Amino acid sequence: MVLRGAQILVILAGMAAAMPATLFGQGEHARRAGSELLVLLGDIDRLQRMDPDVQQARGLHDRIAGMLSGLPLLLRLADQETERVNTASDIQRLRSLLVDRQWALLAEAVAALSSRYPLQSNTFLTQVSPVRLRSALHHHQSLCAACHDFPHQQSERPPFNLYQQAKQLPKVEFTARMLVGIRGDVMTGLGNPFTDEEIAALIALYLNAQSSAEADLRLAE
Ligand code: HEC
Repeated sequence: MVLRGAQILVILAGMAAAMPATLFGQGEHARRAGSELLVLLGDIDRLQRMDPDVQQARGLHDRIAGMLSGLPLLLRLADQETERVNTASDIQRLRSLLVDRQWALLAEAVAALSSRYPLQSNTFLTQVSPVRLRSALHHHQSLCAACHDFPHQQSERPPFNLYQQAKQLPKVEFTARMLVGIRGDVMTGLGNPFTDEEIAALIALYLNAQSSAEADLRLAE
C-alpha cells in the first residue's frame, strides 16, 4: 500500500496522541511535581538557616505547609500521567516533621521524593538568540519588573530580584522556581501564559544579564 502525505500525517498524529507525553518532553503534571519538590527542598534549606521569629520565616513556613498540602494530589496526577503505579508516600509524616521542626529528616524525605520525581530542566536551560532575549526582556519589563526589580522586603513573602536569584541558586532549582512562581503566584487561575521557549528565554535573560537596565543597553546594540 502506498501512503499519501496526508494519510501519513493522520497516522503520525494518531501515534503521537497515543504516546505518553514524556516521550516528547515531560508532561505537565510530572513537571509540576518535579518543580515543587525542588522548590520545597530549597525552601526547607533556607528556613532551617533563618531566625524563626523573623517575618519572612513565618511566610516561608506557611508556603512550605501549603506545598505539602498540595503534594498528595500533585504526585497522584504525575503518577497517572507517567502511567506509574501510585507511589503516594506518607505526606502526613512530612507535615509532622515540619511541625516538629525536624529539618534534617524533612529534607531527607523530600530529597528522596525529589529523586523519584525529577524535573527535566534541559528544555529550559538552552542557548537563546539575542532576538529571543530581547523579547524576554520585553515580557519581563511589562509583566514582572514592577514587583521583582526593586522588591520591597517588608512582607512575609517578598518577591526577589530574579537577576540575582538566578545567579545565587543552582540552575535546576531556579528553573523549578520559575515554573512554580509563574504558575502559582503570578497568573493564578489563568494558567501559564508562556510557552516553554519563552520561559527558557526568560531564564537565559536572568542568568546572563545583571539587571533590566543593563540588558536593555546590551541588547539594543
Ligand atoms: C504583582 C507582583 C508580581 C508580579 C507582577 C510578578 N511576581 Fe513573581 N512573585 C511575586 C511575589 C510576591 C512572589 C513571592 C511569593 C511567595 O513567596 O510565595 C513571587 C514569586 C516569584 C517566583 C518564585 C521565587 C521563589 O523563590 O520561589 C518567581 C520565579 C517569579 N515570581 C517570577 C515572576 C515572573 C517571571 C514574573 C513575570 C512574568 C513575575 N514573577 C511577576 C510577585 C510578583
